[in-house]
Amino acid sequence: MSRPALHMEAGRPDPRQFRNVIGSFATGIAIVTTSVDGEHYGMTVNSLTSVSLDPCMLLVCPRRGSTTGDAIQKRGEFAVNILADTQRDLSSRFVNAVAARFNDLDLEFSGGGMPLLPGSVAHLCCRVAAVHPAGDHDIVLGEVLACSDREGRPLVFHKGAFGAFRVED
Ligand SMILES: Cc1cc2nc3c(=O)[nH]c(=O)nc-3n(C[C@H](O)[C@H](O)[C@H](O)COP(=O)(O)O)c2cc1C
Repeated sequence: MSRPALHMEAGRPDPRQFRNVIGSFATGIAIVTTSVDGEHYGMTVNSLTSVSLDPCMLLVCPRRGSTTGDAIQKRGEFAVNILADTQRDLSSRFVNAVAARFNDLDLEFSGGGMPLLPGSVAHLCCRVAAVHPAGDHDIVLGEVLACSDREGRPLVFHKGAFGAFRVED
């Protein structure tokens, strides 16, 4: 008899195990950015999901107390930069020291003044529509005000590793 794939065990799963298991779900990588009082903020995320088409909405989940997450809530607006596979360095930069994240970067700006990272495969500008607490993170719902994309291969994240997307024939 074949073994069931999943054994439900007593107690809750260990958070590290959960992170590893949910990492089986490959995602893209984005940097969410905003600007408050002339100061730019940005962080690497993969908790980005499309939610609604009419109106166009997405969600992203910053850790509670995140510097960028707090700035997004304060400003009430943010931009999403979906990274290309040539932007691997940015994914690390926007995890490391907050102060250096925007150093020496050529930025573009949305109509609303959100910092945009050139070379990304897509940009979306959002207004914060709602924030829902969820465990140690917040679910930030964004209504998409403007978006655009371009040709290019996305950066892909799977089980802690970065890779590139390959189109099958
Ligand atoms: C691939 C990848 C995905 C990540 N996704 C998220 C995420 O969805 N939410 C989050 O809070 N942190 C995420 N992080 C971690 C944040 O980028 C990191 O904690 C960052 O320092 C937070 O920015 P802050 O200092 O402005 O709060 C991710 C990191 C990596 C490398």
